[in-house]
Amino acid sequence: MAVEFKNFPLEGKLKGISDRQLQEHRDVLYKGYVSQYNSISEALKKADSSKANPHFSEWGELKRRETWAHNGALLHQMYFENLAENGTTKPGDKVRKLIERDFGSLDAFKKELLDAGKVAPVGWAVWAYSVLDKKTHVFLLEQHMNHTPIGVIPLLILDVFEHAYFLDYATKRGDYLNAFWEFINWNAVEQRAAMVP
Ligand SMILES: [Fe+2]
Repeated sequence: MAVEFKNFPLEGKLKGISDRQLQEHRDVLYKGYVSQYNSISEALKKADSSKANPHFSEWGELKRRETWAHNGALLHQMYFENLAENGTTKPGDKVRKLIERDFGSLDAFKKELLDAGKVAPVGWAVWAYSVLDKKTHVFLLEQHMNHTPIGVIPLLILDVFEHAYFLDYATKRGDYLNAFWEFINWNAVEQRAAMVP
């Protein structure tokens, strides 16, 4: 089944993100990942896996790109889903409990999340629940798939690729990170947290 692009109408709602920045990111880049993932999925149906080898095969190259496009589409979908007009949402009960248990306070969580956002040159910071130790952590993802943890439930997605902020902030990533904190859609995060046991 083909993956669908989801439109998130956030024009004029995010303080610190211009409509042009939003539209380039959502309508070109995110939409592009959805399209690439669907194209790769179709191509894989016709490619011959029996020719797979460690060096080169069409099927092998498609499999490598499949994860890139899959994660690029899903991470962007979740990123835009966890954005909302400034001041319209607050952390819910379950999110607050998880944050206080695992980070001590909302301020400590904010610091770790935004500090993590300064690390990856191209990638993501992801707050997620781990089935390994049954706690939540801020993980780093480089590109869309390097250092990707398995066995996690992603709760909050922060895009720190330059394409997410460069039109508005140029090299001032810290200012983008501070703006991001103010337009998190905590309702979306709370819904995801319902899956945490
Ligand atoms: Fe992005």
